[in-house]
Amino acid sequence: MQMVQARGFGGPEVLQVADAPALTAGPTEVVVKVSTADVLAIDVALRKGEGRELFSVEPPFVPGTGVGGTVISVGDEVDVAWVGQRVVAITGVMGGYAEQAVIAERELVVVPDELELDTATALINDGRTALALLEAGDIRPREWVLVLPGASGLGLVLIQLARACGARVIAGARGTTKLDLALQAGAEATVDYAHPDSATRLREATGGSGIDVVFDGVGGHFGRTAFEATARGGRFIGYGDSSGAPTEYSADEAQDGGVRVLGPELVHIGGTDKAKRLAEQAVNQATAGQVRPIVGQTFPLERAADAHAAVENRTAVGKTLLFIP
Ligand SMILES: NC(=O)c1ccc[n+]([C@@H]2O[C@H](COP(=O)([O-])OP(=O)(O)OC[C@H]3O[C@@H](n4cnc5c(N)ncnc54)[C@H](OP(=O)(O)O)[C@@H]3O)[C@@H](O)[C@H]2O)c1
Repeated sequence: MQMVQARGFGGPEVLQVADAPALTAGPTEVVVKVSTADVLAIDVALRKGEGRELFSVEPPFVPGTGVGGTVISVGDEVDVAWVGQRVVAITGVMGGYAEQAVIAERELVVVPDELELDTATALINDGRTALALLEAGDIRPREWVLVLPGASGLGLVLIQLARACGARVIAGARGTTKLDLALQAGAEATVDYAHPDSATRLREATGGSGIDVVFDGVGGHFGRTAFEATARGGRFIGYGDSSGAPTEYSADEAQDGGVRVLGPELVHIGGTDKAKRLAEQAVNQATAGQVRPIVGQTFPLERAADAHAAVENRTAVGKTLLFIP
């Protein structure tokens, strides 16, 4: 089978196609013939050699944390009825960029016939993360919610789900194309955080009342601006730092401002029952037409390096997926 390996830590060019023997399932596992692989910011970070304090990854390794495909074989203790079933699953922190993946049976999420496999794959990470954030945000109707970044795969799902809770959504992103996409997903207002007046624009967006719930995956300067714009009684949920630095604030500042703060541990739920429950919920909501991931670009497996470059240089909009024929 073919796979893409990171042959070292470095730029996108370290991602190279390699051949490997077909995979075999252990007793409680299945082998999935992968047709779609999710591309995430964490894949890019690990390829660069970042995050090694959290994840023990050494080259050569196969990046990719989420896949969609069809079960082609099962281990001794797994019901053979799984064979032929369309599924999505989390692979862990690696193993997704390949024609086959070995998945524990308990991780499998069934994809109903009515839902496209690529749609389900686009939600295997972003959908469950968005739902975990939403549960923590405890949004009430008419509250102001800020989504940062607002035009990534996750951001666009979060906008739709927050709207469905009755929230009034503001999206922060860079550039007209991304801001327009956030509006199409249901944002009521947008703020270009690359604009020098972004702090004023953010304040004006709520008519001065402040943001009730901030979902901050960007961090850095604008994350700080968003923290300062959080209303008394609001929730500030910092789950990522795509700008390169987390949002800085102190516990005293949060207490003085009457802001409840929650951190990234909230979305680091891989392998838990909660992760499985939320992934199934995301797939069910997509099947029911309640949420629709927005796939902005797809690449064949052998162009994984181009997919990483698009994520890294911020030309990617919405979700990025790899297709594997
Ligand atoms: N997706 C998940 O399930 C998940 C789970 C846990 C944690 N996270 C973390 O949450 C953060 C956002 O995740 P995501 O899935 O939305 O990421 P993504 O798809 O890679 O999008 C990140 C976005 O961040 C913005 N950005 C701002 N400054 C940037 C910079 N200096 N370099 C690159 N991008 C920059 C870009 O949008 P603009 O061009 O509009 O600024 C970019 O599109 C990441 O730190 C990620 O690791 C994500």
